[in-house]
Amino acid sequence: MKSALIFILLGFCFTQYVTVQAQNPIGLKVSASLRGLLLGAAVVVKYLQPNIDQGQYNSNVVKNYQLIVPGYELKPEHIWLDENVYNFSDADWLLGATPNTTGWVQQNGMQLRGHTLVWAYDMRIPRWLLDREASITPEKAKTLLRNYIYTVVGRYRGKIQWWDVINELISNYNNTRPFYIANSFWYRKLGIDYVKYAYIFAHEADPDAKLYYNDFGIQQGGFKADRVFDLIDWLKSENVPIHGVGIQWHIKVSETVTPGDAHYQTAQRFIDRNLDLMVTELDISIPMVDSHPVDPNDIQRQGLAYRSILDYVLYFAPRTPALLTWGFTDRYSWIPAATNYTQGEALPLDANYQPKPAYWQMQDDLARVLLNGIYRLSPKSQPSTCLGIAGNSTRSAVQLYTGACNQTNQQWNLMWLGDGTYRFSPQSVDSSALNAYNVTASTGTVRIYEWIGSFDQEWVISCQGNATYRIGPRNAWQRVLAVDQTSNIVIMNSTRDERQQWIIH
Ligand code: G3I
Repeated sequence: MKSALIFILLGFCFTQYVTVQAQNPIGLKVSASLRGLLLGAAVVVKYLQPNIDQGQYNSNVVKNYQLIVPGYELKPEHIWLDENVYNFSDADWLLGATPNTTGWVQQNGMQLRGHTLVWAYDMRIPRWLLDREASITPEKAKTLLRNYIYTVVGRYRGKIQWWDVINELISNYNNTRPFYIANSFWYRKLGIDYVKYAYIFAHEADPDAKLYYNDFGIQQGGFKADRVFDLIDWLKSENVPIHGVGIQWHIKVSETVTPGDAHYQTAQRFIDRNLDLMVTELDISIPMVDSHPVDPNDIQRQGLAYRSILDYVLYFAPRTPALLTWGFTDRYSWIPAATNYTQGEALPLDANYQPKPAYWQMQDDLARVLLNGIYRLSPKSQPSTCLGIAGNSTRSAVQLYTGACNQTNQQWNLMWLGDGTYRFSPQSVDSSALNAYNVTASTGTVRIYEWIGSFDQEWVISCQGNATYRIGPRNAWQRVLAVDQTSNIVIMNSTRDERQQWIIH
């Protein structure tokens, strides 16, 4: 405790390894957003429909994720039906069919990353294209590629901020092609230059989109990662627009990540090339027999593994804008079928949409920034003051005090509630708690009220550095606890000024 306390006093944000499971978590999206991270998941459009699992698939995506990626619905194999024939029905449902219309994504305040314009295997190239290969000249192939990318990227211009332009280019099999790339229709027609054309066409179609290369098995360096480094160096030498690398990160629970290891060294090599990194398809599978984990401890290990990769993403921020899992519930995951049912239960929510240790570890890692204990709360704008209660009843007003602030009505018992939020109880009336009122009014009010465990008594805290914190009411987590112009304690919109930052000491 003492070392942890010193850690806090030094002004660092402290996260600790104890997780508490609770009812009704605030949701990973909120905790991630307060850390400046986009948390996401691959989704299947047909499961987002209200009749699927009583709407639980849909509601859990909206509660826990800011960013989605269609697992299938933006791939050439799904939308490119013939040279000028496209099936945009699913993508339009997500994003709207025209520049001035919206879809499920915008209507739910979400964001979407596009996956993928070119998947460099023949089995992922539309059948009609392969069937006509013999009659397609290189010039025609280049025109087809340009028209496809212009059509798809252009249709959702301004709605898709990130695109996997090319997915899984580097082969896992011995070959003599440049950068060890996979053989495919596009390579046979255009050689390695098709890779350049794809990024150039995507940039021409939407100059504001961030263009990524996406692959698996590259997170800890090695032969394949080295080929990706060579590819990126070549693209950059040709002034080809490429902005980031998607590290898919499909792993087994046995793979561990620790600061400074090959995972971190590899990330730094990508960042040194002025690239952003996203973890784009994280799942951490567990050995299974007859649909049961071989070792039940693997579920806990999986939680620590998810936390270690989230730590990696937080460490490299802001060059790591997002972490996405490939799916989010064990109810729908590609892993069991892809591993002949020897691996499974790879995601943060179980098959009944219940949070697993992986969920709680991520919620804890993102949101638990202070140890439980007794603290004074001083607005950064008036550091010689502190927040206290004005009376000694359980329903007192709160006000700022000046002076030593060593009275029990000027100090607060801070308790982590396990659901991503904290309780603040005055030390002098510990059965009450800081309570927000009218949280959506232009100026909400704050008092204490006897603790009943309601959401307006729960608070999110995020670290601003130098022992200062942002405190917001759970029911309006984008707003903040603040001191107004006449030193009243209020809830207001966040403007990040010093009246809204709290020294917690
Ligand atoms: O929905 C149609 C259905 O209407 C039709 O009857 C059926 C006939 O085959 O196909 C169904 O579509 C399937 C689709 O998944 C459903 O979501 C496709 O056949 C099937 O090929 C497709 O598989 C996807 C696979 O990529 C190939 O595109 C998986 O959902 C998707 O999870 C998987 O994702 C890949 C990433 O893109 C790249 N990284 C690896 C990852 C896992 O393989």
